[in-house]
Amino acid sequence: MSFDPRRFVEEAVSEIRRIVGDSLAVAACSGGVDSTVAAVLARMALGDRLRAVYIDDGFRRLGEPERTVELLKGLGLDVELVNARREFLEAVKGLRDAEEKRKAFRHTFYSVLGRVARELGARYLVQGTIKADIVETVGGVKTQHNVLVQLGLDPRTYGFEVVEPLRELFKPQVREVARFLGLPREISEKMPFPGPGLLVRVVGEVTEEKLEVARLATRVVEEELSGLGAFQVFAAVLSDRATGLVGGERRYGYVVAVRAVRSEDALTAEPLEVPFELLRKVADRITREVPGVVRVLYEITGKPPATIEYE
Ligand code: XMP
Repeated sequence: MSFDPRRFVEEAVSEIRRIVGDSLAVAACSGGVDSTVAAVLARMALGDRLRAVYIDDGFRRLGEPERTVELLKGLGLDVELVNARREFLEAVKGLRDAEEKRKAFRHTFYSVLGRVARELGARYLVQGTIKADIVETVGGVKTQHNVLVQLGLDPRTYGFEVVEPLRELFKPQVREVARFLGLPREISEKMPFPGPGLLVRVVGEVTEEKLEVARLATRVVEEELSGLGAFQVFAAVLSDRATGLVGGERRYGYVVAVRAVRSEDALTAEPLEVPFELLRKVADRITREVPGVVRVLYEITGKPPATIEYE
């Protein structure tokens, strides 16, 4: 049976109203299509009893927090920007293992949201968890940051109950709902960006320097490769350094991996065939514009056996 966004919206709005009742709810917004659709549905259901927040964890792209808050305000979501950068960096300090980093992120994310919910007097958290997040986490692929209940974790330990109106949808259906709701293309067609952001694109230990490399390299990759119709394009920083030659001298520097994939639902993916000249341009720009980078690799592994993100 084909998906009917109108019916979905009606049912989701009444479900949110039924669950939240007369209480207040907080929506955690990242500016991605999933969390924005969930927040807009909650806004339709609850009006002013919905409070929207954007958590700045320090793992966002260049200028992204400010840009996103402005964009969401334009949609009628009066988003409050919460700066929790130091707390997140502290939480992942010294961790090298991908799953440990994800779990530390999840714990910090919900601790911060729990604090915000308490301050606002909100009992519910509305979040844009979709089916793929749940399938991958429960299937043991990886701990998606926003999955709790399905793993047997009780969100009440953080001080709220979760409402997940999109839990039965995959990404293409969420996009259909976004279009139906009249959200701008900037939201409805937005490239997915992982909840833990650049944290899962800095392999191994996270430092401010590696995060900055990821930020600057990502800007180059998005500028050069976004027009190719890929499902996702991004840069990741590998954990070890390698030898390069800069100004006639040996330089032990960062290795950046560039990834561009085709995919329907993120459960499987294929590397995109990017013209070689364009790849050379990307490598050239990254090594010139991002301090400390001496090598750029292009990833040609599909999913499986790789995952889309690096951690
Ligand atoms: P992987 O790396 O598992 O990614 O092939 C599949 C899709 O999920 C995104 N992703 C995440 N999204 N929280 C999210 O909201 C997460 O923890 C997370 N990890 C991966 C990834 O960008 C891709 O679209």
